Amino acid sequence: MKKLFIVANWKSNKNIEETEEWLHSFSEGLKREGVKVEGKKIIIAPSFTSLEHAHYCAENLKLPVEFAAQNISPYDEGAYTGEVNGKQIKELADYVIVGHSERRRHFGEAEETIAKKLSLSVKYHLIPILCISDLSQLQSVAHNLQPNKLLIAYEPLFAIGSGNPDTAENADNMAAQIKKKLGDSPVLYGGSLNAKNVRGFLKTPHINGVLVGGASLRPLDFLAIIKHA
Ligand code: PGA
Repeated sequence: MKKLFIVANWKSNKNIEETEEWLHSFSEGLKREGVKVEGKKIIIAPSFTSLEHAHYCAENLKLPVEFAAQNISPYDEGAYTGEVNGKQIKELADYVIVGHSERRRHFGEAEETIAKKLSLSVKYHLIPILCISDLSQLQSVAHNLQPNKLLIAYEPLFAIGSGNPDTAENADNMAAQIKKKLGDSPVLYGGSLNAKNVRGFLKTPHINGVLVGGASLRPLDFLAIIKHA
């Protein structure tokens, strides 16, 4: 059976208090509904401001979750006002989202910056979740990738936050092409994912998980995705 990755990307949502509330209802829901998590890696990506407290709460609640940062500085520690670097992230997370289309679009992140972020992720033993919307985005950073220490998320632009997901067939085809280039790296699908459509993506031969935005903001909706995965 393939191992499944289920990643919650909260984007720029939730303060510390809301993060704590989410984790508590997630924990209660998990127990109440007896949701099985064997074979599923559940990864939560809160904002930097909530990451430390989320980590602390998850430990207290003994939640079967790991954490990701949503971003990493393209520079190592030093005089880079406002940036959070790999060394700082590594204390609180094992994964980091790199190259999300929202960063490419709203913050002008280019391939060169993404390549720097990937190499610093590797330096600090963070597993990058590299988001791409087409194969050309893989090409330009290929030399910074370590195939067995990487997750790739295929997220077509039209599907993000639109309520209009890609078809499982297209996404699987894309995942197959990514694997052809990168060996057996796990490939995730992201874009308007919910509890009703998750199974369709995960039962394909090449998709190993999902990256969930909007539907991960509500703990019980995210739980339903895990349940149906
Ligand atoms: P969405 O976002 O699930 O809200 O479409 C996915 C993502 O941007 O990672």
